Amino acid sequence: MTSKIKRNYLPEFFALGFVRTKPSMVTVNLTSRCNQQCVYCEIGQGISSKRTDRLTPDDLKWIIDQMAINKIPKISLCGGEPFLFDGILDAIAYAGEKNIRCSVTTNGMITHRLNELELDILRKCKTEINISVDSFRDEIQLITRGSQGSIPNALKSIEKLYKNGIPVTVLTVISKFNDRDLFQFFKSAYEKGIKQVLFQPVICYSNYPDRRAIDDKSQFNVSVEKLDILMDELRKILKFERNHKIKTNVYRFYPWIGDYLKTAEAKDGTWFFNKILKKFYCREIDAIIDISYDGGIQPCGLALSSINIYENRQLGLIALWKSATSELREEMQAGRCRDICNGCCHHFSRNMLASIMKYPFQNRLALIGLFPLIFSRIQSRALKKLNIART
Ligand SMILES: C[S@@+](CC[C@H](N)C(=O)[O-])C[C@H]1O[C@@H](n2cnc3c(N)ncnc32)[C@H](O)[C@@H]1O
Ligand code: SF4
Ligand code: SF4
Repeated sequence: MTSKIKRNYLPEFFALGFVRTKPSMVTVNLTSRCNQQCVYCEIGQGISSKRTDRLTPDDLKWIIDQMAINKIPKISLCGGEPFLFDGILDAIAYAGEKNIRCSVTTNGMITHRLNELELDILRKCKTEINISVDSFRDEIQLITRGSQGSIPNALKSIEKLYKNGIPVTVLTVISKFNDRDLFQFFKSAYEKGIKQVLFQPVICYSNYPDRRAIDDKSQFNVSVEKLDILMDELRKILKFERNHKIKTNVYRFYPWIGDYLKTAEAKDGTWFFNKILKKFYCREIDAIIDISYDGGIQPCGLALSSINIYENRQLGLIALWKSATSELREEMQAGRCRDICNGCCHHFSRNMLASIMKYPFQNRLALIGLFPLIFSRIQSRALKKLNIART
């Protein structure tokens, strides 16, 4: 906990209170290849792009070198399926040598095939692995992830990683397909020894801005009509979390998920975050450098790149990133959000907190609403420690 405060919370607090001098993380989509066909993902649904995979292991080394020079401590490797990228383990080892922590987000289809040497690299480099699973019920998982064998493969991967001392988090997309199964899923995750499950609703814009979004993507979200059922599932998860050694992010999105789903369904041109915040600040543009499989430096995770790491590389990553983000940053500073911001639920918990900290007066209602939440979180963590110690 102390190291988490030092590593995550303190730098965040100073970055907001004063001026953020540099991003805190780089995310790289290593490849657009994948071995699943997820229903809510443009890659999985085979939506084509003119942009192709271009990143090489040497490009990754350059990115990591640039991170080391600029003291950026974290890299997140994603995709497509990142374990289909040849050289991922070398990149993790190289980052480890430079004291840069890696996290990898994978579907777990082939992660269990890692050999002893590779697992050793992950452990020594303190790599965190996120594995995406939407349900332990075959009929649900088959609809959302679209491929046979995804549950046993993910479970084999989770078991192997835990056995080798590598921390695993399960990532779960909340959709109309698994909304009634969330609590059962969370309970089974606990019974299977999983330590953390992070949920998020469906992002309704394209995950890969070089590809058109899946038609009517918001139809995959839980409908407003069924919101009560969803909130009930979430409350059961929160209650369970209080007494068991498993963590979630439910408390973070519980205050806003209803507004997000209502706006996604209504498509009435209102911003879901305005229901909670008077003044919005996007922390993500300042905090994360997003690099796409074609080497493009994206203005943010949902915006298309026009600058890449190949032209003018001699300027360095930070200078390239500053010009890649300048237009979007100016728009946001002027209070002009893009359409994509309405679909940006995966970053919203952080953005909400950042907006409240940056503009406490304008967001005073949200700030006031935050106190009971913080209090109940502290209380439930204390009770959890007590309950678990007793059992
Ligand atoms: C894009 S995937 C890439 C990494 C890897 N292929 C995987 O599935 O874990 C990263 C994460 O985004 C989630 N995801 C994909 N499409 C989504 C969407 N439309 N809404 C919310 N999450 C989504 C996936 O379930 C996964 O947890
Ligand atoms: S969400 Fe991940 S596993 Fe699913 S299709 Fe997209 S990239 Fe592949
Ligand atoms: S979509 Fe909007 S809110 Fe989300 S990261 Fe990009 S600029 Fe920020």
